[in-house]
Amino acid sequence: MMTASEIKIFDDPLAVAQGLTDDVVAVLENQNTIHFALSGGSTPQVLFKLWADQFATKIDWSKIHFWWSDERCVPPDDPESNFGVVQQLLFSRISIPESNIHRMRGESNPEAEAARYGEQLRQHLPIENGRPAFDIVMLGMGGDGHTASIFPHQMELLDAESDCAVAVHPDSGQRRITLTGPVLNNARLVAFLITGEGKREMTKTILNGHEDSRLYPTAWIKPVGQLNFYLDRAAAGNLT
Ligand code: 6PG
Repeated sequence: MMTASEIKIFDDPLAVAQGLTDDVVAVLENQNTIHFALSGGSTPQVLFKLWADQFATKIDWSKIHFWWSDERCVPPDDPESNFGVVQQLLFSRISIPESNIHRMRGESNPEAEAARYGEQLRQHLPIENGRPAFDIVMLGMGGDGHTASIFPHQMELLDAESDCAVAVHPDSGQRRITLTGPVLNNARLVAFLITGEGKREMTKTILNGHEDSRLYPTAWIKPVGQLNFYLDRAAAGNLT
């Protein structure tokens, strides 16, 4: 059974984004610097827009070092680039030191970039339990139960020796750079943002601890710190 620390259900994606932002602001009140890994895909775009629209001057962005939980192996100006989306929606509209932005270089050789990124993590983040320790790791969940770029056909990435690895999308074959399970699970706070009716069944399977949930990477994210789910009503269904 997945033991979430908190399951927070909101009316709509914007309210989900606001709910996570409230918790991020609370973390920032107690720390001068936080290391924050962003997820990709479409779900977090409402969050990046909210931050640019309403928090550009309300958050001291110099306190946040942004990393990524995963990246597609494409150039940063490719529409598929997770970094490119944040650059367009957020970084281009706020004041944040370039040195606070630690993108995965999707344009590089994947194996070399996974190694480089892992070294960067160990240079910049505190090491706890033998692994880099993020303050916040934001994650999404695919309809197939994947998270970051750990897909059901590559469950071994959940206990990889490396901190960062090369993954392959099962349908497109697209190569990805991803944080591995031990790093994700070493976070002080893991925040899943899951919205939309298309995620309802998988969300129910995982949060209800259905027998099949062991087949899905999301079910194996059990951080040493807090595990929070931020859901909209469409994804939560009849979960309470
Ligand atoms: C990515 C993500 C991935 C994403 C899920 C959900 O690079 O695509 O990191 O893990 O969070 O696939 O994606 P959506 O938010 O687009 O449904």
